[in-house]
Amino acid sequence: MTKEIAVSGSRPTGFIHLGNYLGAIRNYVKMQDNFSCYFFIADYHSLTTHYEAQNLPQLTREVLATYLACGLDPQKCVIYIQSEIPQIPELYLLFNMLAYKGELEKVPTFKDKVRSQEQSGRSISAGLLTYPVLMAVDIIVHRATKVPVGKDQEAHLEIARNLANRFNYQFQTTLFPEPYGYNDGSDLFKVPSLDGSGKMSKSATNPNSAIYLMDDDTTIRKKVMKAKTDAGPTESNQTKPEEIQNLFDLMQLVSSSEIVQHYETQYNNCNIRYGDLKKQLAEDMVQLVAPIRNNIHDLMKNEEYLKKVVRDGAEQARQSADATLQAAKKAIGIHYF
Ligand code: ADP
Ligand code: TRP
Repeated sequence: MTKEIAVSGSRPTGFIHLGNYLGAIRNYVKMQDNFSCYFFIADYHSLTTHYEAQNLPQLTREVLATYLACGLDPQKCVIYIQSEIPQIPELYLLFNMLAYKGELEKVPTFKDKVRSQEQSGRSISAGLLTYPVLMAVDIIVHRATKVPVGKDQEAHLEIARNLANRFNYQFQTTLFPEPYGYNDGSDLFKVPSLDGSGKMSKSATNPNSAIYLMDDDTTIRKKVMKAKTDAGPTESNQTKPEEIQNLFDLMQLVSSSEIVQHYETQYNNCNIRYGDLKKQLAEDMVQLVAPIRNNIHDLMKNEEYLKKVVRDGAEQARQSADATLQAAKKAIGIHYF
């Protein structure tokens, strides 16, 4: 039986954090045994917001080392850097002819970025507007149907489906299947920040709001202990305010169900001590992060190996991408002699 195809990528815009790991990369690792997987580093995408990326080589190597440190195996999946696949920008050009300005302007992530860039006096580039077109192409260039990502990517996936269908309709073909988000059979989710609101993110202004996979044990403990809490519940079974719910959500992701249940019961009985909860949460995060961090450090020293992984990966990704690009050009009518 042929395996379903999965694609996903992360932007090299900073250290990978627990949101990236729990929301996406952990699923990449699980999927490599059962799907035909392509995982890449979205360096072109990082230029839409980080054009002055002097750190791009270092950040790109770090994301690569992180993928491998988390358990991606180049024998089981194809690992590559987006910009090393020239078929991607070529297909992106063709899809830019199909994408509507109006639909791109409505994407919530675009609106958010416009707001923050305008506040800091920066212009909005065409590349930022067409970010979802490039992302759609990343996926459909391998004719993938499964995309392991966090909840923040849902609007982008909708655009990808629309563009795939629009191409098929326009050129009377069935070349592109519809891609959907994937989280091991469950809904996509968001890992909360330690700030009390919003998602854990690389670009957060408060560096204490995210736990990075490169954080040492002391830093992890300090960040968790600083997380916002309230004065505690005053009535049994009280609804939790956002900052408390976030701590429970994080605990749900990294701790055992017995531990979560223990603190849920304490909260509902109004005898919870947030200090104890945070200590436990920090220890469970340390258990998860420490081995990955040590692997990243080891892999970063082995530049030859990193280079080989992406050289081999790019070769395989180019083959798959080229077959799709040639079929797409043919469907459009770009084949003259
Ligand atoms: P960031 O948003 O931190 O800059 P990326 O855009 O590179 O990170 O995202 C890489 C992957 O991690 C994507 O699949 C994205 O959906 C996922 N992701 C990022 N932040 C979170 C989060 N807080 N919760 C769940 N998934 C997340
Ligand atoms: N937009 C994604 C993010 O910000 C990164 C990304 C680029 C991606 N191309 C992709 C994710 C293709 C999945 C598939 O996280």
